[in-house]
Amino acid sequence: MSKLFLIIGLLGASFGINAEEKITDPLEITVHRSPTCSCCSKWIAHLKEHDFKVNDVVTTEILGIKAKYAVPKNMNSCHTAIIGGYAVEGHVPAQDIKKLLNLKPKVLGISVPGMPVGTPGMEMGNKKDAFQVISFDKDAQYKVFNSYEAK
Ligand code: CU
Ligand code: CU
Repeated sequence: MSKLFLIIGLLGASFGINAEEKITDPLEITVHRSPTCSCCSKWIAHLKEHDFKVNDVVTTEILGIKAKYAVPKNMNSCHTAIIGGYAVEGHVPAQDIKKLLNLKPKVLGISVPGMPVGTPGMEMGNKKDAFQVISFDKDAQYKVFNSYEAK
C-alpha cells in the first residue's frame, strides 16, 4: 500500500519538473572545430559550465564535417557539434541544446548562423545582438527554435 503511494508521489513530482531539468544522462557532446578558432573554445567553456561533457575534436576539415552532418550552407557558423544524433552548429546557448534533447523534434539539427555578438562564446562587453536559434531538417525546412532580443 505504502509502495503504491510512493509511486504515485514520484509520478506527481515528475510532472512538476521543467524540460531543462529532466535530463539526467551525461550530456556528452562532440565539438568539431578548427585549431585556430578561439570563440569555439569559449563556447566549449560555456557548455562545460552547463554540465556538458565535451569531446573536443580539432580538425582542419571543418567544411567536410558540416557536409557530413548535412548542415546547410546558410546555417553555417564556426564549430559543428554532435549530440543525441543532432547537429548543433555555431554559438547555440546550452539551454537550447537541452531543450532540443528533451523535445526531440524531427530535425537534423539547430544552428545560430554566423557569429552574432553576445551569443555564448561571442561576448564583447555588454553588447548583445538579437539572434535566433533555427532548426533545419532534411527537407530544407527551417523553423525558429528560440529567439533572443538585442540588449
Ligand atoms: Cu565562433
Ligand atoms: Cu566556434
